[in-house]
Amino acid sequence: MEGHPASLCLSFAICQMGLTIASTSERTEGVNEFPQETAYNGAWCIVGHDMCTQEAFQAQRSRLVGLLGSGSLEAFESVLDWLLSWDVLSWEEYEGLRVLGQPLSHSARRLLDTVWNKGAWGCEQLLAAVQEAQADGRSPALRGHWDPHSPHPARDLQCHRPAIVRRLYSHVEGVLDLAQARGFLSPYECDEIRLPIFTSSQRARRLLDLAAVKANGLATFLLQHVQELPDPLALSLEDAACQKYASKLRTTVSAQSRFLSSYDGAENLCLEDIYTENALELRTEAGAPQTSPAPLGLDALFRSGGRLNADADTVLVVGEAGSGKSTLLQRLHLLWASGRDFQDFLFVFPFSCRQLQRLAKPLSVRALLFQHCCWPDLGQEEVFQFLLAHPERVLLTFDGFDEFRFRFTDGERHCSPTEPTSVQNLLFNLLQGNLLKNARKLLTSRPDAVSAGLRRYVRAELHLRGFSEDGIELYLRKRHREPGLADRLVRLLRATSALHGLCHLPVFAWMVSKCHQELLLQGGGSPRTTTDMYLLILQHFLLHASPPDAAPHGPGPGLLRGRLPTLLHLGRLALWGLGVSCYVFSAKQLQAAHVDGADVSLGFLVHAKSVAPGSPPPLEFLHITFQCFFAAFYLVLSTDVRPSSLRHLFNCRPTGSSPLARLLPALCVQGPPSEEGGVEAWLQQAEPHNLQITAAFLAGLLSREHRGLLAECQASEKALLRRQACAHRCLARSLRKHFCSIPPALPGEAKSMHALPGFLWLVRSLYELREERLARKAVRGLDVGHLKLTFCSVGPAECAALAFVLRHLRRPVALQLDHNSVGDVGVEQLLPCLGVCKALYLRDNNISDRGLCTLAEHALRCEELQKLALFNNKLTDGCAQALARLLECRQNFLALRLGNNHITEAGAQVLARGLRANSSLQFLGFWGNQVGDKGAQALAEALSDHQSLRWFSLVGNRIGSVGARALASMLEKNMALEELCLEENQLGDEGVCSLAEGLRRNPSLKVLKLSNNCVTYRGAEALLRALERNDTIQEVWLRGNAFSREEMETLGPRDARLLL
Ligand SMILES: Nc1ncnc2c1ncn2[C@@H]1O[C@H](COP(=O)(O)OP(=O)(O)O)[C@@H](O)[C@H]1O
Ligand SMILES: [Mg+2]
Repeated sequence: MEGHPASLCLSFAICQMGLTIASTSERTEGVNEFPQETAYNGAWCIVGHDMCTQEAFQAQRSRLVGLLGSGSLEAFESVLDWLLSWDVLSWEEYEGLRVLGQPLSHSARRLLDTVWNKGAWGCEQLLAAVQEAQADGRSPALRGHWDPHSPHPARDLQCHRPAIVRRLYSHVEGVLDLAQARGFLSPYECDEIRLPIFTSSQRARRLLDLAAVKANGLATFLLQHVQELPDPLALSLEDAACQKYASKLRTTVSAQSRFLSSYDGAENLCLEDIYTENALELRTEAGAPQTSPAPLGLDALFRSGGRLNADADTVLVVGEAGSGKSTLLQRLHLLWASGRDFQDFLFVFPFSCRQLQRLAKPLSVRALLFQHCCWPDLGQEEVFQFLLAHPERVLLTFDGFDEFRFRFTDGERHCSPTEPTSVQNLLFNLLQGNLLKNARKLLTSRPDAVSAGLRRYVRAELHLRGFSEDGIELYLRKRHREPGLADRLVRLLRATSALHGLCHLPVFAWMVSKCHQELLLQGGGSPRTTTDMYLLILQHFLLHASPPDAAPHGPGPGLLRGRLPTLLHLGRLALWGLGVSCYVFSAKQLQAAHVDGADVSLGFLVHAKSVAPGSPPPLEFLHITFQCFFAAFYLVLSTDVRPSSLRHLFNCRPTGSSPLARLLPALCVQGPPSEEGGVEAWLQQAEPHNLQITAAFLAGLLSREHRGLLAECQASEKALLRRQACAHRCLARSLRKHFCSIPPALPGEAKSMHALPGFLWLVRSLYELREERLARKAVRGLDVGHLKLTFCSVGPAECAALAFVLRHLRRPVALQLDHNSVGDVGVEQLLPCLGVCKALYLRDNNISDRGLCTLAEHALRCEELQKLALFNNKLTDGCAQALARLLECRQNFLALRLGNNHITEAGAQVLARGLRANSSLQFLGFWGNQVGDKGAQALAEALSDHQSLRWFSLVGNRIGSVGARALASMLEKNMALEELCLEENQLGDEGVCSLAEGLRRNPSLKVLKLSNNCVTYRGAEALLRALERNDTIQEVWLRGNAFSREEMETLGPRDARLLL
């Protein structure tokens, strides 16, 4: 049994200090949490031993009743916890005392009667329980230790009840979810516990009460799980109002984040069930060493690594539309609200930029937090002061900066948290840290909307890359638990590389799940392009929204034609919204766009999540991409659209240059869709990154493949053809303009082009259009030797588009795709253009053996391809065979760079065989693998009489003296090698002495790099002696070795070629 307080026979008197709290109403929502901050706040004083009798107890009865009965139910229940845990109260007595609905003073009297009947012992125990309840408040860490594998779990839950309640209360939402997911609780039981009349610790108690009577393992689950929960956050007694506020905020955020609410209606997915790890990578400062950017967990968001500006408060998460930014935030909110992570923050305030920009009136930080997120029922001033005094315990999240109509500026400084200012100024000053300095701010955005100005205030920048291949599979398995279904879907994706590529963006994975039946039925004829996929889901929604007899034809034009008015209403709303940067729509706006209930019921508009209580939640499109899709639909089919207005879609305007949107008075957005300006103006004002998506959809809808479908929706094929002609014309012109803007090549160098923003989208639009002729025409004007698309978020879908266009190039190009997310599926998509690539740079692209084997196999037939760079991918020995074959068969291959992968001696040995049979390779890079001595030996032997290799790197490969000896004999025979890089190995003096021997007789080497190899004076001496005999060598690098300053001073002057 839990240790009793030593003061069992202490008696007491009541001090008057508790009276301030005694007036707290007993069931105020949000009232919480620890007993200590309520009725027993300093309420009990000990006055001496002599009154320790039942009589004394009785004498104090009326005051005791007053105190126990006028505090909060919360406080009363915590006294019961202690009494239960000491077995003072039987279970039946406890149940009788906590009957809801009776006045608290009545329960207090019954409690006093009950303990009185147990004699002096009972009375003493009550007093002790009151003291313990009071003491709980003073010592925040009430650490209970129990055996999580106890053979009597229900009993232990009771014995440790106070500690368990204490530990559980801030995590109760998450624990309930988990217990339900594991089948310990029914949804009904969960709902009962979650009744809004209960505070969090009361919910925790109800859960324990249920565990006492359920014999299904719930008790064991709780004992084990609660043990692992982090300690509750401690707030001092004075911070009662803050605790209540924190608890209310948790409840609000938890309710909001539990479901993937963007897809409500038929499908209420629990985030917990469906959330799949998304690849998150830290962006390091340009120029910083590029180590492997391993995917990070969510917890990395606030770690200190990779700081761009250490003083800044803002952490930025960047990702394309549909890459999962909002879902990532939702996950963070849920983890926090259920107490599972991010518990350093006491307060987390979620905001969405698209909603914030609707606030037309000036507001202060205080109003932002309290009125637009969570209202403190008590002590507003105290709570606000606490937030100001402890900003490090506060996190504000702002989702979707790309949807904020205002461009970032740091021109207008605003530092007062209570003074109102415009919403944009408020946000910008929060991000800069002028307001709530040291409170963390987490901002998500699509890449185009992040300006250099904003980056200056960013602490760390992370990139969201979407699902990995395993992630896609995992996601499908979570979504489809029916036997075999997920397997079939996975097989389908593997067989349809283009569709597989799309699914790396979570929003596509969602769509594939949604339309799984159609996809499995279609089999091989699966969608390939983005437009295919959105049309499929459109038909899916239409089919499922229609009553069965209303859709006799199944999917097809009849279906679209039947709902054309609805589609046009939605399309017009979507386009207007893009034009005025409005992404959530009020009832009034819907009405003005003639969107009625039936249109909404189709399912593409859903209730926006809104933290602020009160007004009905506005509607928004399922996802911004759907808004763009509907806008494109409208542009293609509406009779109100002049074909010539489509030209605005294909203008490569840089993001942020949407002047009208910036100046647009807020009222215009608040107001209903107006005819003012119409389509043309909307297109001119829309954000470029939304226009780009819309343009690609438009191209897709106008493609030959889909034109038939659309023509049947509407009589006028002529109108469609006119729009198509305009799209063709504009697209070709834009690409031409783009190519013309490339500066001419420097003398002696190949003409090089770094893709300007928008280029990829033009290429994507061409791909959606699927017009070979146009693609051929487009690249006819492209005369560059080097096409650079680094850090451009190139994923598999972009690879498909690039290949579609680039394969028509007339002259081969070096394609540089470093720092993207090409992956194995992307490599497959690139294959069609491999024939026109003379070099392919794929540094840092998440490529594994599978992708490389496919690549190498195709490269066998691509005579133009002479260079492959695969630095920093996921290659292992499994790709060595394919590469060896490539070297063997392609006697004009020039460069193979495999740095920073996972190749060991086995792989090196296989590769060495290919190398031996090759006579063309000039560059071979193995930096940062693990070939070791044996690998080095194999490679060295293969290179002994190699005729062409000029540069060879084995930096950081765990090579010791044995490997060095082999390399030394290679040097003796080889007559072509000019640079050998062996830094960061374990050569030691012995290895270096061998190399020096080799060097004496080598006729070709110009640079030998031996830095960081534990070399001492002896090794350097040997090298100096070799240098005396060798005139070819120009540099020997020896930095970072074991020389003293004096040694360096002696060695240095002896030969200038020694770089120390
Ligand atoms: N980590 C994830 N796990 C499961 N589903 C996800 C995940 N991320 C995104 N999704 C799915 O993709 C959809 C689009 O993601 P979202 O977060 O809205 O993207 P973004 O905000 O980047 O545009 C979500 O509604 C959800 O269905
Ligand atoms: Mg989003």
